[in-house]
Amino acid sequence: MPIANRTFASDPRPIGVFDSGVGGLTVLKALREYLPGQDFIYLGDTARVPYGTKSAETVRIYALALAQQLLDRDVKMIVIACNTASAHATEMVTAMAAPVPVIGMVAPAVDAALDTTRRGRVLVMATQSTVLAQSYERTLKMRNAALQVRGVPCQLLVALAEEGWLDGKVTEAALENYIGAIFREPENTKPDTIILGCTHFPLLKDAIRKVAGETVRLVDTGEAAARFIAHRYGPFPEARPGDVQFLVTDAVERFRPLACRFLGCDDDALPVGQIDLTTARPAEKRRLRKSATK
Ligand code: DGL
Repeated sequence: MPIANRTFASDPRPIGVFDSGVGGLTVLKALREYLPGQDFIYLGDTARVPYGTKSAETVRIYALALAQQLLDRDVKMIVIACNTASAHATEMVTAMAAPVPVIGMVAPAVDAALDTTRRGRVLVMATQSTVLAQSYERTLKMRNAALQVRGVPCQLLVALAEEGWLDGKVTEAALENYIGAIFREPENTKPDTIILGCTHFPLLKDAIRKVAGETVRLVDTGEAAARFIAHRYGPFPEARPGDVQFLVTDAVERFRPLACRFLGCDDDALPVGQIDLTTARPAEKRRLRKSATK
């Protein structure tokens, strides 16, 4: 076992995870499963969610500010759980956080999709902003130029998942609108693999299968990232689950029940702290804006 790997798993500092809000908890759940014994700080930007409808520049400014908050808390790694932030800001956050490693969702999900696809036809379901960024498409094509890749923006699914409408008429109608026609195409054009390129979409797996068909393969980006970290930085020999500190930028009381739903826990008393990103010093704001527009 390389010494560097032993050092990472036994380094007592927490792993920092950030997202635009609650959705990243699906990623946190996978991380806790694949990285036992690790402590986490989860930071959700509930004051400024959604990111999926925002411009690249705005998402970069937000992502850099969240990463700085985690670095200030001495994390040993940053996981960008939000797909929209991963699509727009992974390189920038990586440059800013070095030497702390940064893991975004795109590269691990692309690895998983390449392993998964049988016929080389991949559909990326994501927010509007992620689809516009085309990071998944670019990275997939770079790895295999023969792949057929399509992206479909499915912003409404974010709200449905947060509402807890994981199945039923409304959710199926929304999915039918977004992807129904694609999955009625002939066998030789329709996708065989879907990248669930948004934090919320793993919650809708069953409904997606109903519309896309049982044979379609689903790539869960949070799970792909967790497996990638376990492989690259493991082994993680401890069996105990680590601790999680939850932080949000607004509305703790709204976050708590949603968090319990996403994490599958019934602890209404989940400890959640609030931080105020608007108090960032003017000089810091200028610096963030400058590096985000480079
Ligand atoms: N976390 C976002 C993502 O994975 C979804 C929610 C949002 O639009 O902020 O892209």
